[in-house]
Order: sequence, then structure tokens, then C-alpha cells
Amino acid sequence: MTLIKKSLIYIFISCLLLISHGCSTLEGNKISSEYKPVRGQFGKDVMWIATTQELVDKMLDMAKVSDKDVLYDLGSGDGIVPITAAKRFNAQSVGIEFNPKLADYARAKVIQENVKNKVTIITGDIFKEDFSNATVVFMYLLPELNLELRPKLLNMKPGTRIVSHYFDMSDWYPDQIIKTSNDAAYLWVIPAKIAGKWEFLNLETKKSSVIEVDQIFQKIGGTITMDGVAQPLLSPQLSADQLSFLYQVSSLGLVGVTLKIKDNQMQGVQRFLEQEVSVEARRLK
Ligand SMILES: C[S@@+](CC[C@H](N)C(=O)[O-])C[C@H]1O[C@@H](n2cnc3c(N)ncnc32)[C@H](O)[C@@H]1O
Repeated sequence: MTLIKKSLIYIFISCLLLISHGCSTLEGNKISSEYKPVRGQFGKDVMWIATTQELVDKMLDMAKVSDKDVLYDLGSGDGIVPITAAKRFNAQSVGIEFNPKLADYARAKVIQENVKNKVTIITGDIFKEDFSNATVVFMYLLPELNLELRPKLLNMKPGTRIVSHYFDMSDWYPDQIIKTSNDAAYLWVIPAKIAGKWEFLNLETKKSSVIEVDQIFQKIGGTITMDGVAQPLLSPQLSADQLSFLYQVSSLGLVGVTLKIKDNQMQGVQRFLEQEVSVEARRLK
């Protein structure tokens, strides 16, 4: 092979390498002009379609995102969700995106939008990456993927907010819904797990009773047994780590109880007429 031929081949290969490199890297702070995601393009478990800015804003408002939050977007596409959470709320935000080119594209946008100190884009699989430190989880996936993630989500810290664009969680009913003529979004707040038997103690009188709680996701019911007499918990409500209910005392009226749950303990107050006394509960089983 002549020297000229060898040089031409070398130049040709160098050009090819430059072009392919340019496809997946950033040019300074600019998004590479070589790669533009296409709506509907293949994704590992679900294709890429971006949530509109308007709906992202509404969903983050519904989740009450703040600067105290750590938000994860599971399948973060072009990064619109973590970038918005950082820009609007100063929230620490993480996107997990399987497609490396899309992840690079999002990273370039993060730099362009000046939120590099707040947003991390991980190239990875949402079923393998750890997002257990999230306080808000954003998803725009598919119904079956939501259900696959559901057990993991339900094990997150009580009070963690989950928002899902378009797809719900089957029989786990949402706490809040946004519906428009052609779109939808849902919010769930992870409830504390309180099913079982609890000893309930009035800290002033030292009188103890037993509470038994049934729970399906955030919906609860149960009984309180005092002096051997059981009665239903009235208007029982569980939200994150807060439990409230009413019960009847003789013919005098209703006692209102509010408790904060922490693992196998609850602490709070009960109110009757003008009186407020401290109460607590401890798990029996
Ligand atoms: C419908 S798009 C939503 C993008 C973004 N969350 C939004 O709302 O604009 C779903 C994204 O998930 C990504 N994806 C699919 N399967 C994934 C997986 N197993 N792990 C991480 N990302 C995945 C796709 O590449 C796509 O970007």
C-alpha cells in the first residue's frame, strides 16, 4: 500500500471516530447538535415521550416539592423533571435514564440551565439503581412498571410522595388526581404501616386500652377496646405518619385523638370538651 493510500485511510478513520464521539458527548456547555431525542423513540422498558412543562409544573406543585426534598425521576428522558425541580424549588434532584445518549443530552441541558450543583443524571436502570433516599418520586412509565415498582415504593419512608403521569397503581387509590381533557396525573403519599394491635395509654389517668387496626394502603379501620367493651374507631384517617380518629365516651360525646407514628410507637394528644391530655401507643403485635 502506498503512503498516500495509508494516509487517506487514516484520515477517513479519524473522521469516523470524531463523528461518533461528537454524537454522545457535550461540546462545552452546548447540547451536541448530533443527537436529538425523537418523541416515541425506543427506551428499555418504555419509549421516550416528555411530560409537558405545564404538567411537570402542576405535578411538582401537587407533590409540594420544596428545597428540603430529594426528587428522583425514574426514566428521566431529557431531564425536564429534575431540572424543573431544581430551578423552581431548589430541590436536590436525580434523574435515572437507561439510554446513555439521552442521559448525556440531559446532562448538557443541566449545565445549560445552570443547575449542575443541584441535578445529577445517572445512566442506569430504574430496577437496579438505588433511590431509597428519595422524598419525592416522579414516574412516567407504564401501568405494569408502576405495579412492579409498587412494593419498593410502599417500603419507602412514610410521607414520601409519589407522582405518576398518566398511569395509576391499580387498587392503590391515589390521594390526589389532576385530570385534564386528555391527560392525567396522580399523587400517593406513602403511609406508615400500622396494621395490628396496639396498647393505647392515657398518660394522665394511666388508663390503658387496646386498639386494633386493619389497613389497606392508606385506608384504615379498626376498634378500640376499653374496660372490655369494643367500639369502632370513628373517622379514622392515616396520612404519612399521622393518625387521627374519634371514639365515644359514654353518652358525653366524642374524644378526638391525633398521633404521630414512629416505628412501633405513637405519641400525641386526645381532646375531649376543653381538655387536652397526652396519649401514646405501643405496638403489641
Ligand atoms: C415516557 S419517558 C418519560 C421521561 C420523563 N420522565 C418525562 O416525564 O418527561 C420514559 C423514559 O424512561 C426511560 N427508560 C425506559 N426504561 C428504563 C429503565 N429500565 N431504566 C431507566 N430508564 C428507562 C426511557 O428511555 C425514557 O426516556
